[in-house]
Amino acid sequence: MRIGIFDSGIGGLTVLAAARQAMPGHEIVYLGDTARIPYGTRSPLTVVRYSLAVASHLVQHERVEALVVACNTASTHALPALQAACQTLDIPVFGVVEPGVEAALEAHTGGAVAVLGTAGTVGGGAYQRALAARAPTLEVHAVPCPLFVPLVEEGWLHGDVPRQVAEAYVGFLRDRATTVILGCTHYPLLTDVLGEVLPGARLVDSAHATARAVSAVLGAGEGSGGVEFLVTDHVERFQHVGAHFLGTVPSPVRWVDLGPAVPPFTSP
Ligand code: DGL
Repeated sequence: MRIGIFDSGIGGLTVLAAARQAMPGHEIVYLGDTARIPYGTRSPLTVVRYSLAVASHLVQHERVEALVVACNTASTHALPALQAACQTLDIPVFGVVEPGVEAALEAHTGGAVAVLGTAGTVGGGAYQRALAARAPTLEVHAVPCPLFVPLVEEGWLHGDVPRQVAEAYVGFLRDRATTVILGCTHYPLLTDVLGEVLPGARLVDSAHATARAVSAVLGAGEGSGGVEFLVTDHVERFQHVGAHFLGTVPSPVRWVDLGPAVPPFTSP
């Protein structure tokens, strides 16, 4: 199968890496909407419009047969709209929030849970609702951390600056939250710094849980695999920053221009 995975930028590469491990026999097309990043500070309606435009491109021009929304902000605001748009073509659409919550509750052994995310993800409340539905008495702290995304995009992953930012956002959770959900696909890159600020807390990200959920439906694939990368802005910058995520320079990368969303999607 051809699976489309998208994020506002490079954060979704954490999901891509997990998806390749879990489903080596499927072809993957990764689209980073780098011309429009960040999604996390934008209104729900804008995130829905951007997400539909990305999905429309992936379905109609790249012929993907399944879609993974590797962005918590887009999963929070746009998942129902994407699922509705893809339904007519029988294209399954997977988000990252539900698998992230499952993984967190599997790991949780008591105490409070924290969710760190973009302003959009925290404001949209998808994590809080999913946690409350499964564990109604759980103490949950949802914390927007808007400066984490630009830090990661700059490759500023270690040292005093990210540590001070992390301390300002989440220092109050020390000795309070035992499980911390990294509710943004960029945040796993800050694991070292967050571990220093929140020693002893379990840091859970949704990348592997999402890959597991997708492979449970699509299987591991029987083809030769392979990945193609698409971006809506600088190719070189994506390759430079993306190397932090993948450990190798993403390649090949192709620039694409997204047209307007054209739902309901039609066959290519
Ligand atoms: N990676 C996106 C997420 O998981 C956030 C980045 C952005 O603000 O665009 O929410």
